[in-house]
Amino acid sequence: MTIAVRLNVGETLSDRVMKVDHAGEHGAICIYTAQKWFARWRAPTLLEDLDHFLAHERGHRDLFGRELARRGRRRCRSYLFCGLGGLVLGAITGLAGRNAIIATTVAVERVVLKHMYAQIEALVGKDEAAVALLRHIIVEEQEHHDVSAASLEMSGFWQKIIDPTVALSTRVVIWLGMHL
Ligand SMILES: [Fe+2]
Ligand SMILES: [Fe+2]
Repeated sequence: MTIAVRLNVGETLSDRVMKVDHAGEHGAICIYTAQKWFARWRAPTLLEDLDHFLAHERGHRDLFGRELARRGRRRCRSYLFCGLGGLVLGAITGLAGRNAIIATTVAVERVVLKHMYAQIEALVGKDEAAVALLRHIIVEEQEHHDVSAASLEMSGFWQKIIDPTVALSTRVVIWLGMHL
């Protein structure tokens, strides 16, 4: 599988993948953080899951960050944009409440998982350190998806609005990271 990318001079595909994923994990941290602000009031039963997901995302960002440092690479140009987008998305969906929060997690993690599987396919045999890192993180992303999907109301209003919007936004952010 080929991944659409515009590489900088001296940069490999796997360098760029590490950068984009590091920025994406920052975005995920911002989504869950902002959702937590409002979940305390709008969806207190979700706080435990949100804390659990957030701890994982912090671990993921650290792992990609360490990998970037080892490679002597800077963070992605999309990093701050991912953070800002994550805060806005997290605040809106957190304010909307329980079903919106769950639908956001399902949509984001579904796109992230597809994206990470494609990255593994592209990097296998070329960069085993990056592949091992991705395989480790995918297990936790799958858990975030599955836990949330199990409690999602498929016919809900928020699911219909949020799923396509959030999935598209996540794809756009990834595309920007790969091309900026
Ligand atoms: Fe993550
Ligand atoms: Fe996640």
